[in-house]
Order: sequence, then C-alpha cells, then structure tokens
Amino acid sequence: MRTSRSSRTSRTSRAPRAPRSSVPSRLTALVTGAAALGALLTAAPAAHAADLPLRDLAAAKGKAMGTAVTGSKLTGTYGEIAGREFNWLTPGNAMKWGSVEPTRGNFNWTEADQIVDFAEAHGQEVRGHTLVWHSQNPSWLTNGTWTSAQLGQLLNDHIALEVGRYKGRLAAWDVVNEPFNEDGTYRQTLWYNGLGADYIAQALTAARAADPSAKLYINDYNVEGVNAKSTALYNLVRSLKERGVPIDGVGLQAHLILGQVPSTLQQNIQRFADLGVDVAITELDIRMQLPATAAKLAQQADEYKAVVAACVAVSRCTGVTVWGFTDSDSWIPDVFPGYGAATPYDENYAPKPAYGGIATALGGTTTPPPTGACTATYSVTNQWNTGFTGQVRIACSGASLSSWKVNWTYGAGQRISQAWNATCTQTDAAVSCANASWNGTVPDGGSVTFGFNASWSGSNPVPAVTLG
Ligand code: G3I
Repeated sequence: MRTSRSSRTSRTSRAPRAPRSSVPSRLTALVTGAAALGALLTAAPAAHAADLPLRDLAAAKGKAMGTAVTGSKLTGTYGEIAGREFNWLTPGNAMKWGSVEPTRGNFNWTEADQIVDFAEAHGQEVRGHTLVWHSQNPSWLTNGTWTSAQLGQLLNDHIALEVGRYKGRLAAWDVVNEPFNEDGTYRQTLWYNGLGADYIAQALTAARAADPSAKLYINDYNVEGVNAKSTALYNLVRSLKERGVPIDGVGLQAHLILGQVPSTLQQNIQRFADLGVDVAITELDIRMQLPATAAKLAQQADEYKAVVAACVAVSRCTGVTVWGFTDSDSWIPDVFPGYGAATPYDENYAPKPAYGGIATALGGTTTPPPTGACTATYSVTNQWNTGFTGQVRIACSGASLSSWKVNWTYGAGQRISQAWNATCTQTDAAVSCANASWNGTVPDGGSVTFGFNASWSGSNPVPAVTLG
C-alpha cells in the first residue's frame, strides 16, 4: 500500500503484494462428506480447498483479502490460516480506545502490537480499527463531563498518539466508525453532541497529520446498498472532498443476512468510487438462522461470491475483509442469538462452501468444498540443521471417518525415520501413513493428529497431502 518504514521487505503501492510463493506454507487435503462417511477410503480426494490461498488469488486480481483477528489466538491452526489465507489484518478489538487506554493515561498496546508484528512477519497489511466511535470507549471517557474544547483536545490527542504510534506501519485507518443513523441523520454520540458534525473532519485532519501515508476511511454498516444511510455517507464524502478534508476511502462493513445481499451493492461501490475515493468491504459476514443446513451453506457460498465479485468488478474497490474467518471467532452468536455460521470456516477450521465462493470470485478454479468434510493438514512443528518434526492433523466437520490413510510425495529428498500415532511407509519420495489400531475413528467435529521425524537438506518444502 505504501513503502514500509523499516528494512523489512519493501512494499509496493496500493495493490497487495505479489504472491510470496506458489506453494502455500501448509496444505490441506479434503475428503467430501459423502465419500468420507463410512469405511476406509483409498482413493485420493478431488482437491484441496483452493488452488492457491485466498490472498494469492486476490493479489492476482489486484485486490486484498483480509480478516479481523484476535491477537491472542494467532498461534496454531488459527495463526496458520490467518497467515496463509489473508494479506490484510484488522484487529477486531485491540485498537479500540477502550482497549488501548482503559484508564486515563494508562496504555495497553500488547494485543495491537502483537497483531501488527504478526502482519509484518507474514507480509500482510493492517487496517487500523477504529479511532472515533460511540462504542467500546473507556468508561473514564464516556462517564466524564467535558467541554467542547476538552473533547476536541481528547480527540486530537488520542488520534495523534495512536496513529503516531504506528506511523508508517498501517495501510489504512477506520478513522470514524458508524457516524450515521439508518435514516441518514447523524448518530447522537459523545462526539456529535459535543463537537457537532465537524468532529469527522477534525478526526480525519488529525489522522492525516499523524500519519500522512495511511489511507483514511469512514466506515459504517447498512451502507452496502443504495439507501438513505449510504446516501448520507455519500453526501458527506462529497462534501469533505469539496472542502479539501483528507478522506481516502469508504468502508462498507457488510454484516449481511442470508438472502439479503443488497442488489445495488456494485452500483453503490461504483458511486463512491466515482467520487474519487477507494472503497473497501471491511467486515463481511453473512449470518443465517441456525442450524446451518447444506442448502443454507450453499446459498451463503453464492452470496459470498457475489459480494467479492462486486468488489472485483470495481477497480477502486481495494479488497474484502471478513469479520473473523472462523465461526469460532465470530461476534454473531453473542449478539444475534439463534444466528451464526457467518464466516468462511467452521468452528473446527474446516473451510465451508463460503470459502469456495470467495475463491471462485477471485478467479480460483476449484469448486467450493462440500459442506461435510474431513481434512488433513501437514505442518512442520520443529526444524533443525538436518532434521525436522512434522505433524498431520485430520479433522472432520459434517463428516466422519472410521479409518484413514494420508499420502504425500516429498519434493526435496526428505526421508521419514520415525512416526508415532500412525504407521508410515516411504518408497522413494512417496509416503503413506495409515491410522494406528486405536485412532482410525475421527468423529464429526473431532480430530486426530500423528507425528513423525524426518531428515532434510537444502530445502524442506511442504508437500500437498491427500486424505484417503
Ligand atoms: O474481553 C472481554 C472478556 O474479558 C470477557 O470475559 C467477555 C465477557 O463477555 O467479554 C470480552 O469483551 C468482549 C469483546 O468483544 C472481546 O471479545 C465484549 O464483551 C464484546 O462486547 C465485544 O464485542 C465486539 C463488538 O465489536 C463490540 O461492539 C466484537 O468482538 C467485535 O467483533 C465487534 O466489532 C464491531 C466493529 O468494531 C464495528 N462494526 C461492527 C462490529 C460487530 O459488532
């Protein structure tokens, strides 16, 4: 998005960087629910979830693919998927005022720093979220009694401090979040009531001063289609542009409901683009009434595809961020009881049909993965001069196994010397690992892991695995 501040990998402008490698750092094999139910399968499954990680498919289209993340979860499978599939990260909560300054003058940057560090280590951009909002503010701020002058000073100081802290490291900021009511009037907030509507211009100006390279956004929900609220946002952006107030983009949150994707989404993106600002879909999820059924998940895949395709179709739409990539890290069930299954991965990190919908909108050639699936995921857990320890995790969701076999072919002369929790044989480069007597059963929602030690030299590329 802009040049990096440090000696880390230099960055290109606006469009996401090129794929780091055509080989994902970790590959997942998938067996369809229908095929996986029942006895041992010996045939290789049709395909892994997509030809390339979503971030690489998106990059090839000149788009970004992002997710909101929780910093404390960025290890294990969650961290691997977040690093492999996405090239934008948004802290779900870590950069909100209430998170970073819970008591006045006492700051906690731990999670925010962790996410930014993770992003830089994984060649990802960060969208800062969010500086000025009516929610998740510290109680000392919301309970205080402030004059307009004091409030303006608090706003300026907060922005200068937080934006300044990450100067040069963040691609974009959601400077102002959710300023409008549904009818297009301004939301009565601490900021509006104390400073009037110009708190928005003030915040944008302060953010530009604190980090001239970060793209500055106004972000809101229910502004995805053409309606009274999005038209109010449109008029605001037009007026800010006319006044010379720094505004670079509009964030359409896109917290959508199954069956209710606005038909005017692309038209709406285009009209903002025509004002001369970027547009990002910043918080996409598509919730459904539980239980999730195959039909609902298939419809959800189509709707994810339609939303991503609308962004792909407009050149100034910079990308799509999902608001959490797994149903285990989604805000929906807490806030909308009875609703859920809103993200592209299920609670066990198996890609849902929605994943395939996104992939195909980004030019992927594989069909969406079926609803029920068992997946095998290979990873290197430790590596030293000549050897490494690897593991394969077999997980089922909407399907089950009564026995299993995982096959792969090494591409760089690696040789397995010892395996546990599976019987592994290697002939030349071909490895085949079958379940032990005690762990052939993988129930729906369950997982089994086996490990091995192996030798390597030169390089240790991750092989594609197939689950049979
Ligand atoms: O951290 C505490 C934890 O200590 C406590 O045990 C737990 C008990 O409920 O609460 C935890 O805090 C929760 C926090 O998320 C972190 O998980 C809050 O209660 C909860 O209200 C908060 O919800 C967040 C919500 O914003 C607040 O409005 C969601 O995670 C977050 O995804 C959501 O994100 C917003 C965007 O910022 C703006 N657009 C809408 C979107 C969805 O509401």
